[in-house]
Amino acid sequence: MCGIVGFVGKKQAAPILLDGLSKLEYRGYDSAGIAVRNGDEPAKIVKSKGRLKILSEKTDSGNALIGTCGIGHTRWATHGEPSTVNSHPHISGNCMGTDFGEVESEVIGVHNGIIENFKELKGKLLKHGYTFYSQTDTEVVIKLVDYYYKKYTHDPQEAIAKTMVRVRGSYALCLMFKSCPGEIWVARKDSPMIIGISEGETYVASDVPAILNYTRNVYYIGNLEMARLTAGKVSFFNLDGDEIDKKSTEIKWNAESAEKNGYEHFMMKEIHEQPKAVQDTLNSLVKDGKIDLDSIGLSDEEIKSISQICMVACGSAYHTCVVTQYVMESMAKIPVRVEIASEFRYRGPVLDKNGLVIVVSQSGETADTLAALRLAKEKGIKTLAIVNVVGSSIAREADNVFYTLAGPEIAVATTKAYSTQLIAGYLLAVQFAFVRNEIDSEYYAGLINELYTIPQKIEKILEDKERIQWFVAKQANAKDVFFIGRGIDYAVCLEGSLKMKEISYVHSEAYAAGELKHGTISLIEEGTLVIGVLTQSGLYEKTVSNMVECKSRGGYLMGLTSYGHYEIEDTADFTVYIPKTDEHFSASLSVIPLQLMGYYLSVSRGLDVDKPRNLAKSVTVE
Ligand code: M6R
Repeated sequence: MCGIVGFVGKKQAAPILLDGLSKLEYRGYDSAGIAVRNGDEPAKIVKSKGRLKILSEKTDSGNALIGTCGIGHTRWATHGEPSTVNSHPHISGNCMGTDFGEVESEVIGVHNGIIENFKELKGKLLKHGYTFYSQTDTEVVIKLVDYYYKKYTHDPQEAIAKTMVRVRGSYALCLMFKSCPGEIWVARKDSPMIIGISEGETYVASDVPAILNYTRNVYYIGNLEMARLTAGKVSFFNLDGDEIDKKSTEIKWNAESAEKNGYEHFMMKEIHEQPKAVQDTLNSLVKDGKIDLDSIGLSDEEIKSISQICMVACGSAYHTCVVTQYVMESMAKIPVRVEIASEFRYRGPVLDKNGLVIVVSQSGETADTLAALRLAKEKGIKTLAIVNVVGSSIAREADNVFYTLAGPEIAVATTKAYSTQLIAGYLLAVQFAFVRNEIDSEYYAGLINELYTIPQKIEKILEDKERIQWFVAKQANAKDVFFIGRGIDYAVCLEGSLKMKEISYVHSEAYAAGELKHGTISLIEEGTLVIGVLTQSGLYEKTVSNMVECKSRGGYLMGLTSYGHYEIEDTADFTVYIPKTDEHFSASLSVIPLQLMGYYLSVSRGLDVDKPRNLAKSVTVE
């Protein structure tokens, strides 16, 4: 996944492009580049390997490039290693040239996504005399646009449409044509892109935060659509070249939501935003003490008729599905199965026609989750998307949408989106249980009240975060960490382990506590940290036994349990307590210390918490 930005207007483009890219660095950060045009002069390109900071220094914060029209890119490498030559923008000419050199090529472009048939297209272009200077699929698609532009009527719209029909894969493309000064052309399929307009200025970007300093007026460009951007104006076209009417949307959240606000890292800021995110998500569907699922397309009749639920997602979103499975089956007694989207989409899943497929995604752009959603729709199964980003591809394509109200999440490691996805799962489970007569109205009201206590209980855990920091500082050299638990605690272990791996690069495993002795326990050595999560009273003693088994093999034990279970101190070397809650909802509390552990371990190892190596915030390629 990569970030793209474009600007055309009266102001200087380069500083705006660099500012926009700085808000998109979470999408990729192995190289960056910009191309800027001054009137009808040829564009100038500057690119560099590494973080955006280097590009910014190279261009004197953009001041070294004059021009009011430009495009920029921050890359997460797919085809071709991270290098200056592979970084974007790419050109239709045969040689990239040097920084600040004038580009005489007809087409210059940046791209987010993957062109699957790029090898075949490259072969075709080679036959037509094109040569290639990079290993990227992007260079191929830019040259294909050039080929069609020259072959037909020198019309950008026609050349892009022909290219769109010819390529397979996903793309958000942002192009400048030498013969069309003051214009940017864009096209998209399955990769996000938004267009912003203000007085005399037009912006394009992969995500809203990139342009929020300049405008709140945003257009969503649809799949297989193109647009022509000029100063203060945008026109949309379909593949046939017909103009499409669109209405703009006003972005309600403000630029500060996407800033660090005094926190050292976005991740810590977002950890602290969880109480509000949870509260907002509850408020969105709870009215007068009752959960209203009608607004997300689930009437009582439908809830009664649903035969089974299949939940599909990736990464942390998948982990929230595992929690929901436990809660939904326990409360509503409806069969729930949970699938990893990249597996689901290719294994020909058997789905009941009266079933419901729920896809869960923070970004709403994860390629595998989107493909899973499309597969379910093709099979004629009703779909519901639990999504955070308004107007994202998954939100637009699902039959119904439950928006989590986490606000913009910038850190690559998800925290507040995870917490709101849990809340979405609980609300569905409680309402399904009530409508299907599995719980009475008194228990129903009690559960809703209990959900409303979660925000302040999270606050309470956060008040004691320094204790976790102190413990984690001693683990900075840990090589392997094991998370064990049963039931919902196991589901939380999956998330705790992922948080640790992705930002602190410490190997960890999440294990269903009872499964450990079927192989994995042989990895426990003197001093190996084993974290037992024990919030389910019916399973407490069993997990304690599994922890003791680890201790007997040299394991160093941390216990994470609810206040009151003080006897854990007889077994564990270090304990963390969380407030009591209905045990169905314990994941919302037990995950907080585990998020903090991942965060502090990353900090104590001196790593880049918000932008861990090799990762990107949303995975728009498979
Ligand atoms: O945007 P999505 O929720 O679809 O993303 C799914 C995963 O890529 C994501 O949860 C990932 O695992 C997180 N970075 C983990 O912190």
